[in-house]
Amino acid sequence: MGIQISPSMLASDFANLASEAARISDADWLHVDVMDNHFVPNLTLGLPVVEALGKASATPMDCHLMIEDPDRWAPAYVEAGAGSVTFHVEAAAAPVRLARELRAAGARAGMGLKPGTPIEPYEDLLPELDMVLVMTVEPGFGGQAFLDLCLPKIRRTRALVAKHGLDVWLQVDGGVSLETVERCAEAGADVFVAGSAVFGADDPNRMIESLRKAAEA
Ligand code: DX5
Ligand code: ZN
Repeated sequence: MGIQISPSMLASDFANLASEAARISDADWLHVDVMDNHFVPNLTLGLPVVEALGKASATPMDCHLMIEDPDRWAPAYVEAGAGSVTFHVEAAAAPVRLARELRAAGARAGMGLKPGTPIEPYEDLLPELDMVLVMTVEPGFGGQAFLDLCLPKIRRTRALVAKHGLDVWLQVDGGVSLETVERCAEAGADVFVAGSAVFGADDPNRMIESLRKAAEA
C-alpha cells in the first residue's frame, strides 16, 4: 500500500468538521480520536459525530478508540461509517473476537499499544489484524512531544509482521512531524497520524505531501 497519511481531526476546528475534512483533501484517511475520560483523561466525541462526519466527507475514517470496553462499542463504529477501527489492547477483554467482529462488519481491524505495552505478547494475534498502532505519546492529548523510546517497538513490530509474512499496516500516532516522521519510517512505520503538524500548518495539504515525501525518502 505504501506510505499513508492520516491527519488527526483532534487538531481541527470541531465546530467545522466537514470543512476541516475538506481542507485536507490529500489525506488518505481522517483519523478520528474517540476518548471517554476513562481509558484516557480526556473526552472528545462519539458515534453520532463519527456518523455525521462520515456522511460529510468522502475520505475514509480511521477511528482510534481510546475507550474502556471496546468489545462493546467498537463494532458500532463500523456501522457509523468507519473504514478502519483501532481498539486498545489494554482495554479489550477478547481482542481476537473483537478483531474478527470488526472484519466481519466490513472494516479493517487495528490494535493499539500505549508506549508501555510491548508487542511480543500479541505476536500470535497478528494474522487477525490489519493494522498495529504503536502510540508514540501517552494517549489522551494532541500536541505532545514524540517519545523516541517507542522506536525500538516500531522496529520489533515490523520484524514480527515480516517474520509471519503478513500485510499488516504499522501506524504511528503522537508527535509525528517533519522532525520525527523519518525516524518512524526508517523503523518500519507506514501509516502516519499527524494532528498539530497538519492542522497547524499554513497549507495542510502541502504538509501532508511533505510528510509523505519525508517518509518515502
Ligand atoms: C492522542 C491522539 C492523537 C493526537 C495526535 O492521544 O491519539 O491522534 O491527535 O496529535 P499530535 O499529532 O498533535 O501529537
Ligand atoms: Zn489517535
